Amino acid sequence: MLRLCEAAGLDGADSAAYARTVLAALGPVADRPLDLPPPDDSFLSDDHTPVEFSLSFTPQGDPTLRVLLEPGCGAGDMARNGRAGLRVVREMARRWGFGTRPLDEVEDLFFPPDPQGPLALWCALELLPGGVPKLKVYLNPAASGQERSAGTVREALHRLGHHRAFASLPDGDRHLFLALDLGAWEEPRVKVYLAHHDLSAGEAAGLSRLDGGPGRRAVTSFFHTAAALPEADAAAGTDALDPPAPDLRLDRRPVQSCHAFTGTATGRPSGFTLYVPVRDYAAHDGEALDRAVSVLRDHGMDPVPLVRSVSALTSRRPEDGVGLIAYVGLAHHQGRPPRVTVYLSSEAYEVRKPAPAPAARTASVAGSGGPGPS
Ligand code: TRP
Repeated sequence: MLRLCEAAGLDGADSAAYARTVLAALGPVADRPLDLPPPDDSFLSDDHTPVEFSLSFTPQGDPTLRVLLEPGCGAGDMARNGRAGLRVVREMARRWGFGTRPLDEVEDLFFPPDPQGPLALWCALELLPGGVPKLKVYLNPAASGQERSAGTVREALHRLGHHRAFASLPDGDRHLFLALDLGAWEEPRVKVYLAHHDLSAGEAAGLSRLDGGPGRRAVTSFFHTAAALPEADAAAGTDALDPPAPDLRLDRRPVQSCHAFTGTATGRPSGFTLYVPVRDYAAHDGEALDRAVSVLRDHGMDPVPLVRSVSALTSRRPEDGVGLIAYVGLAHHQGRPPRVTVYLSSEAYEVRKPAPAPAARTASVAGSGGPGPS
């Protein structure tokens, strides 16, 4: 973490304070020797390390380092896990003078007496220069059962003043998380995360509910680069903005979309993010890193801090494992330039072996009027 902070341009004092904050938030598991097995089967990362890092890039300046963690990891069961998480979030809020009102309003929905997994509460810190992070809290819509998750999300949005937000969400296969911004955010968001199995680039481009963007081309090109799918032959169709099939689908770990709500005037989201789980569609992290670098370059962003961060995180060669780069995301927020986010695993317990990974299967080219593959 200290090396990552340095790679992200934070000074020594901020880095040390943030490292202490993370250790305190993790509680007893921070002292657990790493030669013991993981404290529990945390869903936060593939090897169950309860900590994941990420970098958020904009066209200007250093990327922001963020850390996602599960304060209740090792607490024993989901009820205790959730209580530990709430306690830690409220302690942090007190320390930095943040309110927790949005969390208080929905607490009963996400912390029933006998909660189901795969998580109870995660929090993420945006490690800004100056020592006061921005805080995000992730909750489990399926806490009262998968079959209640849509209702839970609808009710939570409603209580938070977003009365028409639920109706504006696109279809998805599952509600994965509901996230709340706490702290000194200009425009605190309520975010809803959806899983999309067997998604194609064309379908991904149809998931945004933002007024006026992103364009289809921005989404499909990101999707193709992150998953290393061949770009459709632009010359084959008359409309290059809507390239013809074959449209390949990501049929392993699902792609996720995130819909961020800020104002309540229109009922529409103001943010849209797509996350490609690059680790399930790459043979090794060398490939995953190349794709993340390409996505950054495509958006006019400097990839050097990413490359530096990967060496700060591990001494292994990227080619010798897969999963260090967990997701690559592309975030659009109304009125701002797009952000690229890259998620970096801790691999405290395990490195997944590299594997030949055929990227995806070809979908049937249903009803395509254009010329088919020869
Ligand atoms: N480990 C979970 C997953 O892979 C949750 C998760 C961790 C996640 N970091 C993420 C999901 C970043 C989306 C983006 O799904």
